Amino acid sequence: MSDEFDAVVERVRDRVSPDADERARLQRAARTVRERAEAAVSDLPVDAEVIQVGSTARETWTAGDRDVDVFVAFPPELDRETLEAYGLQVGHAVLPEGREEYAEHPYVVGECDGYDVDLVPCYAVDDATAIQSAVDRTPFHTRYLESRLDDRLAGAVRVTKQFLKGIGVYGSDLRTRGFSGYLTELLVLEYGGFRDLVTAAADWHPPVTFDPEDHGTRSFDDPLVVVDPTDPERNVAAVCSARNVARFQHYARELLTTPREELFEATIPDPYDADAVRAAVEGRDTTPVALRFAAPDIVEDQLWPQLRKSLGGLTDELDRRGFDVFRSAAFATDGGSGTGDGSQNANDAGTAVLLVELAVAERPAIERHEGPPVHVREHATGFYEAYADDPDVSGPYVDGDRYVVERPREFRTAVEFLQSDALYDVRLGPHVESALETGHEILVGVEIAALAELVGVELADYFDPKP
Ligand code: UTP
Ligand code: MN
Repeated sequence: MSDEFDAVVERVRDRVSPDADERARLQRAARTVRERAEAAVSDLPVDAEVIQVGSTARETWTAGDRDVDVFVAFPPELDRETLEAYGLQVGHAVLPEGREEYAEHPYVVGECDGYDVDLVPCYAVDDATAIQSAVDRTPFHTRYLESRLDDRLAGAVRVTKQFLKGIGVYGSDLRTRGFSGYLTELLVLEYGGFRDLVTAAADWHPPVTFDPEDHGTRSFDDPLVVVDPTDPERNVAAVCSARNVARFQHYARELLTTPREELFEATIPDPYDADAVRAAVEGRDTTPVALRFAAPDIVEDQLWPQLRKSLGGLTDELDRRGFDVFRSAAFATDGGSGTGDGSQNANDAGTAVLLVELAVAERPAIERHEGPPVHVREHATGFYEAYADDPDVSGPYVDGDRYVVERPREFRTAVEFLQSDALYDVRLGPHVESALETGHEILVGVEIAALAELVGVELADYFDPKP
């Protein structure tokens, strides 16, 4: 077993480690970017330091990745508006064909010698605790890791990233809610290698806490906590969901039990076609309902929290109204110009789907409405009097020690509810709410087969779920 594990890992390491040629080409492109940025900075009335950050600065990128992150660190006295203006000026000078994107503040992304370059302005603060914007931490991460990662550990980082990609939990974007590159590097550092990391993870009991620099911070309420060595107030794993921690544990055990390279390769299921969806729905004999609408034109890191919030609101409300939710999912397709790599493109003309699968989609004409216990005199009498002469209800009667009435149900079917304006009283993300108001379609039961051409892969994953 042990030999097999090592053999698998070695083959993966060879595969994901860039060769000398790839490294040289990437670093040449990175140098070009830095030099152009320095030239652009010298045209500004302020001084700024150009810093290469991220995995290319630490030799921890996986072979074939083509992204270069370069930051321009401006004096912290600069006001935000000026920083943004200077940042964009440098960005456009370095990447004339580039386009603007927006995270903490606007920055420019574009291509240089075939590499995808992010050129991000930040504040050159003395200490990561003095940051003015989240990106100000990044240069500290690079400095911290540079001095601690040797070639062997960098190799282990690449293997770990590939494993996390293979099982679908790599990336701190809010669609994935997984492990960021920096988090991966800190975990590998903590355990001293890939094998010790997965061996330990297989036995984790979340919450799991690491505090590499012994800051002693105890205020995090997340399943995985890695106190940022460069900033005691930040959990590096803050966005990592409980589900993704659990999935990592599952696949760590799989790998230890039956080591195989396949776990390091992301598998995309064969998409379901309309017939397959219809067969799945008929076989399950549940009632799926779907809202399909034009995805709001916001970046993915805004879109996904809103889709999740809306789905949560919808399932809670359906449950509350007596329609038992079996399972649910949100889907979104990339709009026309999207690169499909999870980057922050606005989702122009993409489509979003909120799917809720109901175990119970139709209820009786009446519902139970419980009043207070009879012995709570004032409230109980109020309840009794409110319903005593109501011709539309049965009761009040006493069940156990409480008054109960049976009153007409507002919506007998989930579909009636979805078709009503009560849909907009649901807790929805603001942009999702306005997108729904602009227009949406309701699909019920086997009608969701029509979604196959749009989200066939997601539906395959939904009806044939894996850990
Ligand atoms: P990247 O997302 O490019 O990560 O962010 P990476 O470390 O370079 O890893 P890969 O190999 O490209 O996937 C660049 C840097 O920005 C900071 C980190 O310091 C990271 O190294 N960052 C990024 C964060 O602090 N948090 C994040 O959620 C994302
Ligand atoms: Mn990167």
